[in-house]
Amino acid sequence: MVQNTITPALLAYSPPDPPLKEFTPAKDRAFFADTEKRSLLSAASAAEDLTPYIGTELKGIQLSQLTDQQKDELALLVAERGVVLLRDQDITLEQQHALAAHYGIQDRDPNQQDPNHVTIIGRGGNIRAHGHSGGEYHADHSFEVNPPSYTLLRLVKTPPYGGDTIFTSQTALFDKLSPTFQKAFEGLHGIHSSDRAYVASINGGGSPHRAPIATAHPLVRTHPVTLLKVLNYNPTFIERIEELNGQESHHILAFLREHLLQANDLTVRWKWTPGSVAFWDNRSVVHRAIPGGYDVTLREGKRTAVYGERPFWDPERSESLSQRLERLGANGHAIGTANGHENGKSEGLGANGAF
Ligand SMILES: [Fe+2]
Repeated sequence: MVQNTITPALLAYSPPDPPLKEFTPAKDRAFFADTEKRSLLSAASAAEDLTPYIGTELKGIQLSQLTDQQKDELALLVAERGVVLLRDQDITLEQQHALAAHYGIQDRDPNQQDPNHVTIIGRGGNIRAHGHSGGEYHADHSFEVNPPSYTLLRLVKTPPYGGDTIFTSQTALFDKLSPTFQKAFEGLHGIHSSDRAYVASINGGGSPHRAPIATAHPLVRTHPVTLLKVLNYNPTFIERIEELNGQESHHILAFLREHLLQANDLTVRWKWTPGSVAFWDNRSVVHRAIPGGYDVTLREGKRTAVYGERPFWDPERSESLSQRLERLGANGHAIGTANGHENGKSEGLGANGAF
């Protein structure tokens, strides 16, 4: 049974580490990439877009063999497509740590015991039980002042079926709002809180190393690489909208949850196999691992992530996906780069001109 209440264990617990301090990470590696990603894409046997709005599968390439230039181009592809997916990777855990280090400072989840990675396991039981966690959409620990940016999950073992992960584009979720709602949400802030995760962790026998926090982040954020407007919604951690009254906040969050859950056209669903990898942009993608229906002891993964910038909202420099497409006159579902945005050139969109 899940306990979300104040218990003796909760009252007696004192986390050992101080709160994290805000910091400015090094420049995003995507800015160092060749906007056409020639080195990465020429090394791969195929780069297949899996859906119109999110997800590209790279084939015929090993993460363990990437040059620094290819790593930067991979970051740009992740920023543009939300998630990049690969199968049959031979990368070791040590090599995965080194790859993460290329992109920034290793992030650490409050419940993460090993400083270098999180071990992800299966989720089962009564997944519809009150307070059951793990099946809801989320971006990983968005309550941090510097939430993760680039996040890589590699599954080392998988059940024959079950435990798929669904990724949804928050760039597209913002774009599909009516102009009236877009305007209404711009400038608002969501209060992202780790209270519930903290309580559930301790009551479940965990020992989180930081106290819970609540951080106000823009409800619509500017992606630093693409300069696209991104909905910064997170049904797992947002408790309320800062600027709204109680009932207003409650109903707007209920609307946003329905908007997200209805958006099957803006998702990609990834069926894991041993050695498969999802490398996503935690700033512009929410995800959920489908729980239940399989032997949870058969699912295990290793997740590494790096700290991103503090989410920001820059209305002067950002535009919606539709505005981007209209301005550039691109066909398809293009998510261009900041470079393409600033120069106003469609050449900045990537090797095939439309990502
Ligand atoms: Fe997650």
